[in-house]
Amino acid sequence: MRVLVTGGAGFIGANFVHQTLEDRPGATVTVLDKLTYAGNAASLAGQDRVQLVQGDIADADVVDPLVAEADVVVHFAAESHNDNSLHDPSPFVTTNVVGTFILLEAVRRHGARYHHISTDEVYGDLELDDPARFTEQTPYNPSSPYSSTKAGSDLLVRAWVRSFGVAATISNCSNNYGPYQHIEKFIPRQITNLIDGVRPKLYGAGLNVRDWIHVRDHNRAVWDIIDRGRVGQTYLIGADGEKNNKQVVELILELMGHDPGDYDHVADRPGHDMRYAIDNTLLRTELGWAPQFPDFRSGLADTIAWYRDNEDWWRPQKAAVEAKYAAQGQ
Ligand code: NAD
Ligand code: DAU
Repeated sequence: MRVLVTGGAGFIGANFVHQTLEDRPGATVTVLDKLTYAGNAASLAGQDRVQLVQGDIADADVVDPLVAEADVVVHFAAESHNDNSLHDPSPFVTTNVVGTFILLEAVRRHGARYHHISTDEVYGDLELDDPARFTEQTPYNPSSPYSSTKAGSDLLVRAWVRSFGVAATISNCSNNYGPYQHIEKFIPRQITNLIDGVRPKLYGAGLNVRDWIHVRDHNRAVWDIIDRGRVGQTYLIGADGEKNNKQVVELILELMGHDPGDYDHVADRPGHDMRYAIDNTLLRTELGWAPQFPDFRSGLADTIAWYRDNEDWWRPQKAAVEAKYAAQGQ
């Protein structure tokens, strides 16, 4: 099987490439990645059977020949960080919306199977005391430039399935954690701050809830959907991992040998979504998926160990990331 992975030098995409090569001896992988600030070729180092093509998903001349050679296209590439989208939405529109359109047109021409990676943020947010969780039927209600461009890309996929018969599936996953995550994101930012002797930074009161899932559980669900999912169907991916940000920071502090109260409150994110929560019933019942890393504490301890052991991977980015946050009062 020839698999084209867009965004395969990013966090989830690189983990997906590693898992694919481990689990599928017959697969060859081509990664198409622009290698933006968030992409790192080192995340794919030492992997056989991978060809890395540096290029833009919004460039049809690059995309078309790669899609023509693929049996399956798994589309991870995106501008992925909410905070960045509040300061400059432009690349979010180009990559997330136009890039997805360019891919869909190539898939339509060449007939590849297409899987679209998306986010639970397309559904907006929930109140803390709301017993509801997101389901495949929840109406779209995105809040940020990031989530609205992801919502737009999902709707393009739905339209290309219905109007043109493209063989596509969509998954909307909750917050991932694990190795190779960019240090602008919440968990690796706090881990690498503590390695540097800097106190963790909590936006606002820290009561916002995220539904954490280990990246390997996300990626196994993606393969389950590609292998056995129904074309045209959306599947929600989550591992019943709701925790507020304060709880996560306190656990990181404890696991790294600090007083759990040793963190600072900083400026809140404008429009900050309060809570995400996934109902994973369809994924469990139809595809038989269950998380293999349900213990957040041990998954987080392994992730901390990974950042301690792989300082060469993240160190070159740290000063610039923190300077950007400092300029925003965060
Ligand atoms: P990331 O920012 O770590 O990686 C994104 C990758 O896409 C990078 O390698 C970057 O170089 C590449 N890229 C960006 N623009 C590109 C372009 N125009 N052409 C080609 N490549 C380009 O992101 P991530 O956290 O790994 O997220 C991957 C996907 O999963 C995204 O679609 C995101 O919306 C989705 N998602 C993420 C999470 C999460 O918790 N991180 C949860 C649910 C869904
Ligand atoms: O829900 C899925 C989404 O999860 C993905 O679609 C996005 O690509 C991914 O970035 C993530 O979005 P969030 O905005 O939830 O993730 P982030 O890591 O930026 O922040 C997680 C929470 O932590 C959020 O409530 C903001 C807060 N936060 C973040 C940072 C960077 C802090 O309190 N302090 C921080 O320093």
